[in-house]
Amino acid sequence: MKKRILVAGGTGYIGSHTVVELQNSGYEVIIVDNLSNSRAEVVDSIEKITGIRPAFEKVDCLDYEALDGVFTKYPGIQGVIHFAASKAVGESVQKPLLYYRNNIVSLVNMLELMPKHGVKGIIFSSSCTVYGQPDVLPVTEEAPIKKAESPYGNTKQINEEIIRDTVASGSPIKAIMLRYFNPIGAHPSALIGELPNGVPQNLIPYLTQTAMGIREQLSVFGDDYDTPDGSCIRDYIYVVDLAKAHVIAMNRILEDKQKESVEVFNIGTGRGLSVLELIHAFESSTGVKLNYKIAPRRQGDIVKVWADPALANNELGWKAENSIEDTLRSAWKWQEHLREEGIM
Ligand code: UFG
Repeated sequence: MKKRILVAGGTGYIGSHTVVELQNSGYEVIIVDNLSNSRAEVVDSIEKITGIRPAFEKVDCLDYEALDGVFTKYPGIQGVIHFAASKAVGESVQKPLLYYRNNIVSLVNMLELMPKHGVKGIIFSSSCTVYGQPDVLPVTEEAPIKKAESPYGNTKQINEEIIRDTVASGSPIKAIMLRYFNPIGAHPSALIGELPNGVPQNLIPYLTQTAMGIREQLSVFGDDYDTPDGSCIRDYIYVVDLAKAHVIAMNRILEDKQKESVEVFNIGTGRGLSVLELIHAFESSTGVKLNYKIAPRRQGDIVKVWADPALANNELGWKAENSIEDTLRSAWKWQEHLREEGIM
């Protein structure tokens, strides 16, 4: 019998790639998603890629009764992967209560329902945002948590604490919190990828939309930072590599391989790339020229952050595998797919 996993936010960007990898690894997946930032057609695409149609329930994780109903409808769910959250940093500053409600209440509901339905463990989507600007680079899991720069970032910190407090109180659940660095790229099939609502706030969708002619020009936010070329540095992680980390983490929980009931891992490549380096890598790997200009700094940006992924490498046996060139080509192929399908 296949092991059942509930994926909350499973039609979203990282969620959909994770569902593919879970199914390819022999798990049975039940997706819950309210489709607030994704499309139901993603389920068709997952079926096309894997040959298996995941169960899909259009449910909002804020709705305790409805979520309870999903666990009842699919008995024997062993693990939860919780992606369901709002994630736009700027919007969270404008609408903090929306972010606190969406991101915190959905996790609280999940943590209450898991023991009720005998679910063993949860994987939580955390972020390198919890480190703020680290004092030491590359940043390890031991680095201090810095005051959050936005309500969005604060929800990640609070949710990590909620999980720790819940397990410490004796709840019979296990947890792995994955601190993602900057996820980019799309599935090699180009059938799933990132589909931002409106004007993209993140670098890669803005970049590929500019290359496609949807946006006129990419602004590089600042070239006068204390970095070799003056632009900000991030650790860009291929979304399929990131998805695979979830499968390994779920195996670890279900096979009782954890060293502690709550574990945390950085999921990054260990390599920092500047915005300008990334632009040049995009141009050389796709052959597409990009119209960009240097613009003023963006408020609240971290100057430089990249992961020390040694713990994930050694403990999970996970490693980022894809090159940045292949990753950027996958992002471009996805943008071309959106054009061919008339979606964007
Ligand atoms: N950038 C530009 N131009 C753009 C967009 C971004 O130059 O049009 C730059 C940013 O200034 C930054 C880099 O590209 O230096 C990456 O920016 P993103 O917005 O893509 O990513 P961030 O690192 O700011 O944000 C990401 C995730 C958040 C997470 C955050 C941690 O989107 O979910 O990392 O700070 F919380």
